[in-house]
Amino acid sequence: MAFRIAVAGKGGTGKSTLAALLCRSLLKRGTRPLLVVDADPNSCLPEKLGLKAQRTMGELREELRDDPEKVPAGISKTEWIERLINQEVAEAAGFDMVVMGRQEGPSCYCYINNLLRNCLDKLGDQYAAVIIDNEAGMEHISRRSNGAVDVLLVVCQPNPTGARTAARIIELADSLDLQVGRQLLVLNSTSGTRTPAVQAAFDAAGLRIDTCVPLDPAILDFDAEERSLIELPEESPAATVIDALAETLMKEDQR
Ligand SMILES: Nc1ncnc2c1ncn2[C@@H]1O[C@H](COP(=O)(O)OP(=O)(O)OP(=O)(O)O)[C@@H](O)[C@H]1O
Ligand SMILES: [Mg+2]
Repeated sequence: MAFRIAVAGKGGTGKSTLAALLCRSLLKRGTRPLLVVDADPNSCLPEKLGLKAQRTMGELREELRDDPEKVPAGISKTEWIERLINQEVAEAAGFDMVVMGRQEGPSCYCYINNLLRNCLDKLGDQYAAVIIDNEAGMEHISRRSNGAVDVLLVVCQPNPTGARTAARIIELADSLDLQVGRQLLVLNSTSGTRTPAVQAAFDAAGLRIDTCVPLDPAILDFDAEERSLIELPEESPAATVIDALAETLMKEDQR
């Protein structure tokens, strides 16, 4: 079974950046094969990983809906969809990637959605680890193909607003029908240290900060130059923290 790590949080807190850095760290420590799932309809993870935008599962679903009886003779519909999904998995240097695209649709999509979800779950199981980058908020997660995750990283800003939104997201995650092995609270773009004011805000919200990822100018440069975060040097302070986090998470994966 793959070790599934999902990244969630409010808009713009750095979810995709941290998902990309996790991909970098897992590749570096040799966790392979690795699957990265971009579950944000406004997909941007391929670019952060140096890949071109690719055909999405949403687009594939549209095609299947338009022509559901196109299944070639001699194979089941499930097998056929599995083949189609496999064709859409982008193979990059050392990892694979699936882009979900737009997921919501009228109820008539249910059948195809379920087939797709089952096929994606099966696909995920072929990997040592799966990283799932989500859209902002939490509500959509339970409807997606990532119903069970080993680790949920909740990303937030290092300020009182960040503490309040993180508390809401965690509350929502707890109320959803989502199996989460472990939740970790990640403060992103910090000054590198946990200031007393920030600590007080999180204490007041009843939250324990698990990891602080520093504000890293190199990340902004990479963004501006559209360079893959996989190449972020290990002396970059954010990369160092995520390397350590990846190491801890994978050591815990004793299954
Ligand atoms: N630790 C960091 N240091 C410097 N810049 C960062 C850091 N983390 C994220 N950024 C920058 O912040 C911006 C937002 O990051 P990102 O796109 O990862 O957020 P997001 O939560 O995925 O946003 P969205 O909700 O729109 O998907 C980007 O320009 C990114 O380069
Ligand atoms: Mg994002």
